[in-house]
Amino acid sequence: MAKVILLNGSPKADGCTATALHEMIKTFHEDGVETELIHVGNKAVRGCISCGYCGKNGKCVFNDDLVNEVAAKFEKADGLVVGSPVYYGSPNGTILSFMDRLFYSTSFSKQMKVGAAVVSCRRGGNTASFDVLNKYFTISSMPVASSTYWNQVHGFSAEDVKKDLEGLQTMRNLARNMSFMMKALADAKEKYGLPSLEREAFISFPDGK
Ligand SMILES: Cc1cc2nc3c(=O)[nH]c(=O)nc-3n(C[C@H](O)[C@H](O)[C@H](O)COP(=O)(O)O)c2cc1C
Repeated sequence: MAKVILLNGSPKADGCTATALHEMIKTFHEDGVETELIHVGNKAVRGCISCGYCGKNGKCVFNDDLVNEVAAKFEKADGLVVGSPVYYGSPNGTILSFMDRLFYSTSFSKQMKVGAAVVSCRRGGNTASFDVLNKYFTISSMPVASSTYWNQVHGFSAEDVKKDLEGLQTMRNLARNMSFMMKALADAKEKYGLPSLEREAFISFPDGK
């Protein structure tokens, strides 16, 4: 059975982001996909300190929060959904610190795991935040699931989001598309194996040095 991890970046366990993610979870279950919702936004998650420990040891130097624990789950999962409220036009600080460390500290292949970003704002900044979160996937050979609108809901409270019928429809369609992609990719991996990737070139300067 396909499994998807959902991260709630909001400090609120039952706020707008959670409402959007729960709408996806209901649909995932209807589609026979296993889910695990992990609350990240209520933890004190510090940022990456670029210490290089993970390059040598395969995990983050900080063992005091969720990053290493979620990394082990992410390695086994078929998909990852990251949900965030919009703070000043961007994803919130906690989820950004978490995602920087999760993606930078893990060396396992994320190729063909399916990613999806979900954002919630009261008024503005959803699409800019959506773009930021999708960048973790698109540098990691992860196909990105999409829906019938950009993956966003609007509201200041969970009650507002429950009235955002198009937003909730977008979440259901996103989960349906993501379920299909995870199942189809599992079949394709069996049939074709994963595409091989080149890694030799790593250029920081135009002269190649
Ligand atoms: C520090 C802070 C900054 C915010 N900045 C924005 C913003 O730039 N645009 C916006 O529309 N809403 C903004 N909001 C409102 C939240 O994004 C919005 O209410 C969101 O749906 C809350 O989701 P949650 O209940 O999952 O935390 C901000 C809220 C906070 C606490």
